Formats: sequence, structure tokens, C-alpha cells
Amino acid sequence: MRPHSYQSIPTSCPTAWTTEYSPEDERVRALYEKAKREQWESNSTLDWRLDVDPERENFPDMQIPIYGTDLWRALDHNAIATLRQHSTSWMLSQFLHGEQGALLAASQIVDTVPWLDAKLYGATQVMDEARHVEVYERYLREKVEVTYPVNPELKALLEEILRDSRWDVKYLGMQILVEGLALAAFQFVHAFTTEPLLKDITHHVMRDEARHVAFGVLSLGDYYRTELSEAELDERARFTYEACRLMRDRFLQREVWETLGFPVERCVELTLASPAMTEFRRLLFSRIVPNVKKLGLLTPWLRERFGELGILSFESGPADA
Ligand SMILES: [Fe+2]
Ligand SMILES: [Fe+2]
Repeated sequence: MRPHSYQSIPTSCPTAWTTEYSPEDERVRALYEKAKREQWESNSTLDWRLDVDPERENFPDMQIPIYGTDLWRALDHNAIATLRQHSTSWMLSQFLHGEQGALLAASQIVDTVPWLDAKLYGATQVMDEARHVEVYERYLREKVEVTYPVNPELKALLEEILRDSRWDVKYLGMQILVEGLALAAFQFVHAFTTEPLLKDITHHVMRDEARHVAFGVLSLGDYYRTELSEAELDERARFTYEACRLMRDRFLQREVWETLGFPVERCVELTLASPAMTEFRRLLFSRIVPNVKKLGLLTPWLRERFGELGILSFESGPADA
């Protein structure tokens, strides 16, 4: 192997060696069976021969935050083509980095969770996430031909999840919050992209992610209801708020404006003020809020904070699992 570039993240995750092998949770076992049946092989399932032009309008241009402004009107045909390519690259690169975070967190869950049912299911998720890393990396390298580094807000959240020694916080951070938000973002991509290969990739990834979120809700539900004190639940509610705050600021694509030489602060302001982008950022929480409620974490304090973030209206939405 050639020398490789990586960062070492110090963690303290005690490995739980279980002495109880018999199935205990039928619902998690059923999800494990489903996960085994629904494994897919990316080389034969997806048509990688499809020709992709990353400079085409593969997403409606009106989804680009500066669309319709004076900055947009000043762009010529080539500049618009480059901006489309970079916006797509930025979004998919963040998916790629998030998938690596999920791969690492899922493997930590296999290690740290005390129940065998959850270890077995977690093992299927490790494979799912490996496949997700594989398909996004390949699509970016072969089709988009530009890759962006991880966004600082996303990186901060992923590191926090990986560093934490408590298995339930890994579940809460990854399965409920990061993957809940990713699922909403994938739904958006699936609904709006006109590029057939990306649509197909997203379709397959979404099916896996829906299982991952359901696994989190199933595994944490009983534990939070029966094992945690009020003070411990309050602490999880605070973690949830911090994570949501970091994730809300994730989609400003600051790095794209910097790379392409746009006036960065102006573009960020336009992104924050754009009604389409505000609605998009709000919709990203549509899967998270009902699940947080189902876990018993929607304390009066968190309810107030979610109200400030403008996402409380999702409270009565469908919860996963
Ligand atoms: Fe994934
Ligand atoms: Fe996942």
C-alpha cells in the first residue's frame, strides 16, 4: 500500500462482548433479515456506461441559491455550466464524506452496542455504508470530475459522534440525526434530478438509509423510555439541538463560492434569504423531528429550540419504524 493521507481521531469506545446469543428483539431480527435480502451489488445493478454531462441542467437551475439575482444574470453560458458542475460536486462530495462517517460509526455500533441482535443488524449496515462510499466516490470521479473536501460543520458533527464513548449517542447522532437528514436530502435529489444514473443511485441508497433510520428508532426507543433518567434525557435533547444547529448551516456551499471566485458573504446572505433555500433547509428536518418525538426527547426545552429553528411543524409527521 502506498502512504496514505488520513486523520487520526482519538476515541474511547469500549467493546461489548455479549454472552447472550439467543434472539431477543424480533423487530431488529426482522430488519436484519430484510437487510440481508435487500443487499445489492453496485457494478451490476447500476448502469455505469451512461454518459453524464455534469455541466448540463441535471437539477433545475432555480435550486442554485443565487438563481434569478443580479449575480446570476451576469453569468455567461460557460460560467453557468461550471457553477452547475461545482454545485453538484459539492453536494455529492458531502454525501460521500457523510457516508464515510456512517461507515465508521456503524462499525463502532457493532463494537459498542451490548445486544447481539443489534450487532448483527449493524454488520449489514457496515456493508451498506461501504457500498454507499463506493458509489458516490465512483460517480464523482468518473462522471462529475470535481470533488470537494468535507464541509467544516459536517466534519465537526461526525467527529463528535465518533469520539463519544456512549453507544446510544452514536445511534442518536448517526441513525436519527445525520441519516434522517440525509434521507430527506436524498428524497430531494431523487425528486429533482433528471440525470438517470444519479436518480438510480439515489433510489438504491435511500432504500438502505430508510432501514438505518428505522434501526435507530427501534434500538433507542425502549432504552430511552426505560433506562435513562430525566437528566440523561435532557443531555440527549441538548446534543440533538447542537447537532441540528450544525446541520442547518451545512448547506450554504460556501466552498463553491470561494472556489469559483464569487463574493462569498453576499452569496451566503442570498442563500440564507432565498425562500426556496429556506424551505429546503426546513424540509431537511422533516424526518428528524417526528423521530426525536417518538424517542421521548422532545422536552419543553427542545420544543422551544425547534420552534426557533422553524421546524416544529414536522412534529406530527410520520415517524420511522
Ligand atoms: Fe449511507
Ligand atoms: Fe446509512
